[in-house]
Amino acid sequence: MMTEARLDKSKVPDTYRRIASLYDAWAWLTESKARDRCLAMAAIQDGESVLEVAVGTGLAFERILEANSSGRNEGIDLTDAMLERAERRAAATGHTNFRLRTGDAYTLDFSDDGFDVLINNYLFDLLPERDFPHVLGEFKRALRPGGRLVMVNMTEGERWYNGIWPLIYRVNPALLGGCRGVQVVPHLTAAGFEAIERAYLSQFTFPSEVIAARVPA
Ligand SMILES: C[S@@+](CC[C@H](N)C(=O)[O-])C[C@H]1O[C@@H](n2cnc3c(N)ncnc32)[C@H](O)[C@@H]1O
Repeated sequence: MMTEARLDKSKVPDTYRRIASLYDAWAWLTESKARDRCLAMAAIQDGESVLEVAVGTGLAFERILEANSSGRNEGIDLTDAMLERAERRAAATGHTNFRLRTGDAYTLDFSDDGFDVLINNYLFDLLPERDFPHVLGEFKRALRPGGRLVMVNMTEGERWYNGIWPLIYRVNPALLGGCRGVQVVPHLTAAGFEAIERAYLSQFTFPSEVIAARVPA
């Protein structure tokens, strides 16, 4: 059984405002390998339309810009302090073909079928499981038929030493930015995604799943 989400959505912006300045160090220690794998699995072709949901400080977004220097690049996040960092990082690439703005994964402010690729890293591990179908429905709506979703989630560990993270979460979810281990593949199947591939990675004992899936053509 999946652990219940304990960080209410109304508390997300304040929580991430507090940890924004520490986020990159945390991500380097525990998430960088999964992010590398995500971008490799996304195989972005220059000229595509790419949306990243929950861009955070822009660690994946800057690499999306490098891969898609003549395409369309959009990114959203709920937290202004994370977005400000993403904005600076994206501007430093020298590319101008991007737009970053405040937005909510639950109500994507984009038309149907508009994107070839949607990237989403470490968001579902914050969300209540009952909301997964709705948010995946939004992702599917924003992707064109045949479009690719590539996501990373904190997941349930496969080794005893991964057990430290659920313990920390039990003590105080905010210490992990509200993230707990989740398994999203069954929800992707239920939402009608196909060609689902999952890789499991553990970095500094922190367990992640990287999942690629496709909207039926
Ligand atoms: C764990 S961080 C991951 C950031 C980034 N994706 C990364 O991998 O470095 C979670 C991010 O999700 C954002 N977030 C949380 N709920 C959201 C929602 N409903 N819509 C959009 N962004 C959200 C937070 O503001 C935060 O920046």
